[in-house]
Amino acid sequence: MTQTYRNWNVTRDNHDIAWLALDKADSTTNVLSAEVVSEFEDIVSNLMSATPKGVVLLSDKSSGFIAGADVKEFTQLETEDTALQVIQRAHKIFNDFENLSCPTVALIHGFCLGGGMELALACKYRVADDDPKTKLGLPEVKLGIHPGFGGSVRSIRTMGAMSAMNFMLSGRNMNSRIAKKQGLIDFAVPKRHFVNSAISIINKPPTKKPLSIVKRLASYKHVRPLLAKIISKKVAARAPRTHYPAPYALIDLWVQYYDNQNEMLEKEAQSVARLIVSRTAQNLIRVFTLQEQLKGLGSLNDYKVRHVHVIGGGVMGGDIAAWCAFSGFTVTIQDQKKEALANVVKRAYGLYKKRLKLKRLITDAMDRLIPDPKGHGLKRADVVIEAIFEDAEVKKNLFKSIEPVVKPDAVLATNTSSIPLDEINVALKEPNRLIGLHFFNPVAMMPLVEIVKSPTTDKEISTKAAAFTRKINKLPLPVTSTPGFLVNRVLMPYLMEAVVLAEEGVPLTVIDDAATDYGMPMGPIELADTVGLDICLHVAENLSKSMDIEVPVKLKEMVESGKLGKKSGHGFYTFKNGKPVKTKPNKDYTTPVDVQDRLILRMLNEVVACLRDGVIETTDQADAGIIFGTGFAPFRGGPFHYIQTRGTAQLLKMLEHLQQRYGPRFVADKGWENLD
Ligand code: NAI
Repeated sequence: MTQTYRNWNVTRDNHDIAWLALDKADSTTNVLSAEVVSEFEDIVSNLMSATPKGVVLLSDKSSGFIAGADVKEFTQLETEDTALQVIQRAHKIFNDFENLSCPTVALIHGFCLGGGMELALACKYRVADDDPKTKLGLPEVKLGIHPGFGGSVRSIRTMGAMSAMNFMLSGRNMNSRIAKKQGLIDFAVPKRHFVNSAISIINKPPTKKPLSIVKRLASYKHVRPLLAKIISKKVAARAPRTHYPAPYALIDLWVQYYDNQNEMLEKEAQSVARLIVSRTAQNLIRVFTLQEQLKGLGSLNDYKVRHVHVIGGGVMGGDIAAWCAFSGFTVTIQDQKKEALANVVKRAYGLYKKRLKLKRLITDAMDRLIPDPKGHGLKRADVVIEAIFEDAEVKKNLFKSIEPVVKPDAVLATNTSSIPLDEINVALKEPNRLIGLHFFNPVAMMPLVEIVKSPTTDKEISTKAAAFTRKINKLPLPVTSTPGFLVNRVLMPYLMEAVVLAEEGVPLTVIDDAATDYGMPMGPIELADTVGLDICLHVAENLSKSMDIEVPVKLKEMVESGKLGKKSGHGFYTFKNGKPVKTKPNKDYTTPVDVQDRLILRMLNEVVACLRDGVIETTDQADAGIIFGTGFAPFRGGPFHYIQTRGTAQLLKMLEHLQQRYGPRFVADKGWENLD
């Protein structure tokens, strides 16, 4: 017997097993939209009135199980009350589904996230595909909320408080191997065994092992407040309570209500309703949407890449090559020095060991990364990335020499951070083939890649470059080939202002705290030390040719005296075991009132200038670029969003005031006139 819905395929087979397969209409991915939930409500109600022998919940999409709730709909929840109604309705449906008297089994492949994970948790059994691509997660905190469809209660009940809290508070995904170990799923099997596994579970429901005593102990009434303190402290290091209330709300829920799980469910709904309409959540949801927009720029589906060739195995080229091999491509890495290649392999091994863990996967990735001192890979490569010395002549010579060798349709990319493309591409017979793929250091950590175009660059090449960027799981941001592109150009005035503040004698921690209080992940002084003061100086000097930035004398002196920051052990800070030693200012020190304004306004002024100059096309792209390229306070929704929230008039007044005190570097860019 088959029932038809727009989004669900529901079948009751001859053995009285109901198969509920989600296949969301007009979409490649399953999400729990209002319509999907509404249809599920009807399905559950039918199952309640005629309960089958067992229910199997699965997805008909190849992309995965369910990627979460429909985030677009989150932005339409205007009041806490409306949000609460929506959540309470979902609670009722999930509870009814959980309370069916028959065995219920979720068959999970690909993505199983957020609301999708919560629905799977409402099943009595979870079976996941053992492929490493299976990703289970409750990433709600990243959107400024916490699980709201019963996931907080059910995950704690299923995995124990410590594992579940870590799972929810980190927002990180798990593969099925780890999920099985942590008790989140019952079985990890190859996908081809899904149907048989579900049938055998329904025919003979396996006994569930109770949580171990240690796991149960963590949720005892008197233990919870103690553990909560420790957990909160850990969370505070990443996400301060003032900026990110959701993790703390989740911890409070558990501490206060876990003894009465029905009450905890009710409180969960109220808490999420409150959080979801807050400015933090709405801004984080905006960041999520911006991320999806950037992803969309790289969606050239039929573009095939098999082989990547990287030239230059230094800091950047080596890590780019390692990352591409990590992402599944065959990579040849070429350098004129053998030692450089040995280093690349060593660093890559470290990365794979940390990220892939399993010996088989590490070996596979290492096999894909091929040292190639003679450049044999060039003629097979679909994408060639140059990351040699930052010298226009050297780069030109290289491109001239490789052009006759590479495939006619290969993408030719440079990782230059400062040389205009049109200065390099003149060496090519087909200059329109050259594109910039500007990666950030450290490559494995930084999500953004600037796709640098010059007026000469072919449209098709930039589309392919963006698509390639997605294939290595980075976010493409199209920018023009102008000095500093977007990210370095915006970052530099901010960093230089920090150095000027240090020159003026403002204690380093005061400067850094001003930025982290605003919401930056790391203060500018520590950031400069981490990037390397020589690199900062190089970029600043380069940009000072085209931009109105003065390079502080202090920076030059420090670099001349060998103080390069973290890598030399000394910079602004002294480093011990890779960590800066920070000393608090004297008790009688009074912090100047405008430290934060000076830092942030220089950044905002530059981002406005970038839009005016056409470095980026839209304010949304600028916001995305600055958030993913610099870590700019995500809960503020991006620099332009912040400008809009704060009001241009007020910020212009502040700039004027700073200009009067500190001079022309605070003159408001003309671009402000075009903002509402
Ligand atoms: P690096 O000095 O660490 O490495 C350059 C490597 O290229 C060296 O191993 C060198 O032996 C090799 N090389 C030079 N000429 C070569 C040739 N003709 N054939 C083969 N190999 C050759 O430099 P790094 O820092 O990796 O920078 C590379 C490029 O990436 C530069 O254009 C730089 O502006 C850019 N970049 C650097 C960033 C950074 O943070 N270091 C960030 C973003 C871009």
